[in-house]
Amino acid sequence: MRLNGKRVIVTAAASGMGRAGCEIFAREGARVVAVDVNPAVEEVAAGLGGKVSAVIADLSSTGAVRDALGKAAASLGGLDVLWSHVGAAGSGDVENLTDEDFDFAVRLNLASAMFSAGAAIPHMTGGGSIIFTSSVSGLVGSPFSPLYSAVKTGVVGLARSLALRYAPKGIRVNAICPGPIDTPMLPQFVGRSGDAKEAAANRERLLAAIPLGRLGVAQDIANAALWLASDDASFVTGVALPVDGGYTAR
Ligand SMILES: NC(=O)c1ccc[n+]([C@@H]2O[C@H](COP(=O)([O-])OP(=O)(O)OC[C@H]3O[C@@H](n4cnc5c(N)ncnc54)[C@H](O)[C@@H]3O)[C@@H](O)[C@H]2O)c1
Repeated sequence: MRLNGKRVIVTAAASGMGRAGCEIFAREGARVVAVDVNPAVEEVAAGLGGKVSAVIADLSSTGAVRDALGKAAASLGGLDVLWSHVGAAGSGDVENLTDEDFDFAVRLNLASAMFSAGAAIPHMTGGGSIIFTSSVSGLVGSPFSPLYSAVKTGVVGLARSLALRYAPKGIRVNAICPGPIDTPMLPQFVGRSGDAKEAAANRERLLAAIPLGRLGVAQDIANAALWLASDDASFVTGVALPVDGGYTAR
């Protein structure tokens, strides 16, 4: 088992990639605290046989991030791995972008990563692995959402900077950059206009841009997170890892 005895926190754990991460981490021997705003996270935890417990928290508030992560790490008696996965697609518009849309995108995608790392690090007394979820839009530009691309690029910069700052403490920090993944969030990216025909066309266009010829599935990303969390990646830090079927290779 690749995470035997490791103490792990996963955010955005009630659905999609975060949920798949909880399943795979528990199977690999970790004790996991699953954090999500959706109370369904309790069912996810209950279904994983005692190795996973749930915390309900709205991670769009920095206070809640600090509070939930601090409590979760204390309940585990310390922390080895944080996967800060929460985030959401930002507005596609810049001409009419509201302060609220901007603030929300920054809080949920970037501040959540920064403050969850800040809450986790004091508990990583024996070293650790922090994983952020950025996006391919954190590596290359996105005409669909410049705001999303900007904040996810910030997440990559945060991972690299924290990697340098905490390497002396044995804490590795990396970002996963998923390509299009078939989770409940995908329609937020392809269906911004609310027009079903346009959403289907956008989905086809994304598919055509993926050299491996398929959308990703949640387990593709959870498997990458497992590797970064495990000692198999003990010499890997400061990396922005595309898991995208070749989307960014062109
Ligand atoms: N799906 C994709 O194609 C894709 C591609 C690149 C990056 N991402 C990134 O992956 C992450 C989302 O992953 P997913 O595709 O597994 O999504 P998902 O929709 O399957 O799950 C998102 C989870 O986040 C939770 N959540 C939403 N707002 C929250 C909040 N304020 N506080 C706490 N939890 C909250 C939801 O309840 C849900 O359980 C985001 O960071 C997103 O930017 C997704």
